[in-house]
Amino acid sequence: MDTTEKYARYVNISSVKAIEPVVVERASGAQIYGVDGRAYLDCFAGIAVVNAGHVHPRIAQAAKAQIDQLIHTCSYVYYVPTVADLAEVLAHITPGALQKTFFCNSGAEAIEGALRLAKVATGKREVIALQMAFHGRTYASLSITGNIARKTRGGPYMPGVAFAPAPYCYRCPLKLEPQSCGLACADAVEDTIRFQTSGDAAAFVVEPVLGEGGLIPLPEGYLARVKEILDRYGILLLVDEVQTGFGRTGKLFGIEHQEGIEPNIMTLAKGIADGFPLGAFIAPAAIADSFQPGEHLSTFGGNPVSCAAALANIAVLQEEHLVEHAAELGNWAIGELRKLQERHALIGDVRGQGLMIGIELVRDRASKEPAAEEANRVRHLCREAGVLVGVGGQYGNVVRLQPPLVIAQEQLAQAIQAISAALDDCL
Ligand SMILES: Cc1ncc(COP(=O)(O)O)c(C=O)c1O
Repeated sequence: MDTTEKYARYVNISSVKAIEPVVVERASGAQIYGVDGRAYLDCFAGIAVVNAGHVHPRIAQAAKAQIDQLIHTCSYVYYVPTVADLAEVLAHITPGALQKTFFCNSGAEAIEGALRLAKVATGKREVIALQMAFHGRTYASLSITGNIARKTRGGPYMPGVAFAPAPYCYRCPLKLEPQSCGLACADAVEDTIRFQTSGDAAAFVVEPVLGEGGLIPLPEGYLARVKEILDRYGILLLVDEVQTGFGRTGKLFGIEHQEGIEPNIMTLAKGIADGFPLGAFIAPAAIADSFQPGEHLSTFGGNPVSCAAALANIAVLQEEHLVEHAAELGNWAIGELRKLQERHALIGDVRGQGLMIGIELVRDRASKEPAAEEANRVRHLCREAGVLVGVGGQYGNVVRLQPPLVIAQEQLAQAIQAISAALDDCL
């Protein structure tokens, strides 16, 4: 039996629409190699995870050295130096007063813990999230995920969750135009508080760029307006940096695009350790210390090997200037894609920050009918041309460009060329 046959027989993949027909043998930098010897340019990075590139030698070496020394004792039963070192570094590189980290294993688990912390810190019980947001696949994280496609047949979900409209300018849920809306979607957060909660909201949860929702950056001024509302009601700002963190948006953290705004709690995962499983949430001491003994724990959380990889990963991102590279290359790529938009009627919108770029495809620019089949065809044709891209968004019509940040401009140009050719083919 080959790998695909074993998958069909032994791996539970019935929840997955389709697995890309690439059997991976190895990967390096921005390249993935199939067992058939074929090389692919990776523009999806394992869903925005391997920001420092596949199998970065320095990160792999740090993990190997840690393996030889210690793999697991439980970082919440004994003191482990690597865990302490990583927590110290995170306190220094994250914004504002964020200081104390709880380590877990995934983004969803980070969200679960962060919600619990928001509740114990405020003594309040409700949560506000955004329509079209995605926060994970566990019970609480799905409960605050505003997307029916992710939630079908799993309900009823956690009570006490209210949703505010997505700040999605291309398809404004309030049917307004960005030039004249006066940030009505930000003001709508106050309506959500007043008309959908019982005045008991602990936190407002937000992604700096809505990732799974369709690579939608927050409009300028949106979060400042929301923060002003949250402060008036004593609601914490919980920023979900699982997908936007660690250089992905051209800043170390996506929230840094929002000048002067400090999260009360921030969740981290994906790009934190260049592919080693690790999740985290960080808060100022006054909030973090609200947990009482017995209120939270994780057996594998803060695994020393993942933490050693994370420390090396952060050093690589800083010393190889990958964050600046992502900012410059992202700007350039968005410019190139906007030129493509002039030639390809299928492209309705090009948006993003850094190397977190979405190309939203529509059948008709006036009606904005989502072109989901075409997006899948673009992915298919790109793969045939040796370029791996993602597809996502609320309507499944957004081509996702989220390569490892080590990708070179010539490689990204090759990917844009492949997308252009695929779009031609879709007509
Ligand atoms: C913003 C955001 N939060 C949370 C998650 C969940 O992370 P994980 O898949 O590691 O549980 C994701 C995953 O895509 C995400 O994009």
